[in-house]
Amino acid sequence: IRKIIIAIDGYSSTGKSTVARQLAKELGYIYVDTGAMYRAVTLYAMQQGFIDENQFDKDALAKNLHLINIRFEVSSSTGLAEVFLNDVNVEKEIRTLKVSRQVSPVAAISSVRRKLVEQQQLMGKNSGIVMDGRDIGTVVFPNAELKLFMTATAKDRAERRYKELIERGEDVTYEDVLKNVVNRDHIDSTRKDSPLRKADDAIKIDNSNLTLVEQFDQILNIAKKTI
Ligand code: C5P
Repeated sequence: IRKIIIAIDGYSSTGKSTVARQLAKELGYIYVDTGAMYRAVTLYAMQQGFIDENQFDKDALAKNLHLINIRFEVSSSTGLAEVFLNDVNVEKEIRTLKVSRQVSPVAAISSVRRKLVEQQQLMGKNSGIVMDGRDIGTVVFPNAELKLFMTATAKDRAERRYKELIERGEDVTYEDVLKNVVNRDHIDSTRKDSPLRKADDAIKIDNSNLTLVEQFDQILNIAKKTI
C-alpha cells in the first residue's frame, strides 16, 4: 500500500478525529490529532496561571514555550495514542470544556503555531499519516495527496460534543457546549495566522445527515481511490 498524507480539516466536533482514527487503523497509517497538541499547550498555560476567564498573559506563554514538551504514546490498554505534557498523561484533562473554552485564543498565537506545526511536519515526513486539525491541508501539509474538509450544522456538532462530555461524566449543559462550538469556530476562522478554511483542493464532506458508518465508508472509498 502506497504511503500518502491525508489531511482532515474542519469545524469543531464534526467527527474529524473519529473518522481520522478509523481511517488510519484501516490503512495501517499513523494518526495524529493536532487539536490535542493545542489543548496540551492550553492546559500548560492554565496550570501556570497564564490564562483564565479574565486574563491571558501571551508574553509569558511565548517565553515559556521551550519548556513545553508534547508527545503521543500508544496506551497498552486501549491501543489508542494518548497525549503527554512534560511526561504526564493529560489525555482526559485536555478534553474538558474548561480547556475547550481557552484553547482558541492560545491557538491564535503565531509562536505557538510555529512550534506545533514544526513538530507536526516532522511526524509526517515519512508519509503514511492521517492528521486532523484546522490548517493541515492549508499550512502543515499543503502538498498532501488527499485533503478532506468536514462540516456539519452547529446544532449537530454541539449535540455530538454534548453527548461525549456527558458520557465522560462532565457536568455541562447543551447550551454551554453549543456556545463553545460556535465561539471556537468564530475565533478559529477569523484569526490572522492560519485561519480555518477549506483548501482549494480539499473535498468537502457535510456529514449532518450521515451516520458514522456511512461517513466512514464514503471517506474510505475516496482514500482507496487516491492511494
Ligand atoms: O480539534 P479540537 O477541537 O480538539 O481542537 C481544539 C482547538 O485547537 C481548535 O478549536 C483550534 O483553536 C485549535 N487547533 C488549531 N489548529 C489545528 C488543530 C486545532 O488551531 N491544526
